[in-house]
Amino acid sequence: MVQIKGKTILITGASSGIGEQLAKKCADLGANIIIGARSEEKLNNVKNEIIQNGGNCVAVKTDITRPADCKQLVANGIESFGSLDILILNAGISMWAPFNEIQDVQFFKGLMDTNYHGAVNSIHAALPHIQDSHGLIISVSTGQAIMGFPNHTGYAASKHALKGFTDSLECELGDSVQFMDIILGWIRGTNLRSNAFGADGTQIRENKKGHNKESISVEECVDRIIDGIQKNKRTIYLPWKLSLIPLIRLFFPWYLNRKLRQVTHNQK
Ligand SMILES: NC(=O)c1ccc[n+]([C@@H]2O[C@H](COP(=O)([O-])OP(=O)(O)OC[C@H]3O[C@@H](n4cnc5c(N)ncnc54)[C@H](OP(=O)(O)O)[C@@H]3O)[C@@H](O)[C@H]2O)c1
Repeated sequence: MVQIKGKTILITGASSGIGEQLAKKCADLGANIIIGARSEEKLNNVKNEIIQNGGNCVAVKTDITRPADCKQLVANGIESFGSLDILILNAGISMWAPFNEIQDVQFFKGLMDTNYHGAVNSIHAALPHIQDSHGLIISVSTGQAIMGFPNHTGYAASKHALKGFTDSLECELGDSVQFMDIILGWIRGTNLRSNAFGADGTQIRENKKGHNKESISVEECVDRIIDGIQKNKRTIYLPWKLSLIPLIRLFFPWYLNRKLRQVTHNQK
């Protein structure tokens, strides 16, 4: 079992949702936590709660689309804790819009800037320290990184890009750093949907789309990610049936596309 206790863990996008819960849970298990996101007040609330519960946490207002912010986040963390063991690439934004209803595709650049370039900026700043500790880089990703998905064209593209980047970096670095992909389905209890871009290029805000019965709570999701770290897993699929995607894509692509259209239609 890999111990969480005593590790220093940097989590991007920890002002809400999966990142916030991961930060609190890992702190409870004895890790030193470094967190970054744009909403300073929410981020400080997370930090204060961790410290009140006896944990160690550094919070730095960070926009991961800015390389200088990522460098500052890492520098502040190293100044406080001296090393970095695990980088969790969690910050992300999404969309929900049929492509032919989109008025202006400009917001696709925002999706790419955050989900891909932002993650690259975070890795670039943290990598020397992760290599020093023979540490771990975790992508909090989605089934949409390994298959297409209706109404999520720009989001799926940005997560495919990140997967291509981390797979290539893993090849390049050999054993000096470990990588882990978290391939998620729908997770309840986060702000991803209300912050997602709609067809008019603005954020949807009102979260009217209910989650289907196969969705998983953010608490269970975080427990499974921590379990995966402790068991040194390469990839976690949540729910497990997402692990069938590569096979179904290879042998029955028409079935997969039909199923995905059905699932999306039922969510309307
Ligand atoms: N929820 C799901 O169903 C689901 C499914 C599959 C994958 N995921 C992935 O899980 C990750 C976490 O999402 P979530 O569901 O927990 O959503 P969330 O509650 O909206 O959390 C997203 C986090 O990312 C941060 N963020 C966004 N843009 C940022 C930027 N430019 N710089 C720094 N931080 C930024 C947000 O903070 P600020 O706004 O304060 O910056 C927030 O803390 C995402 O990568 C998402 O793609 C989620």
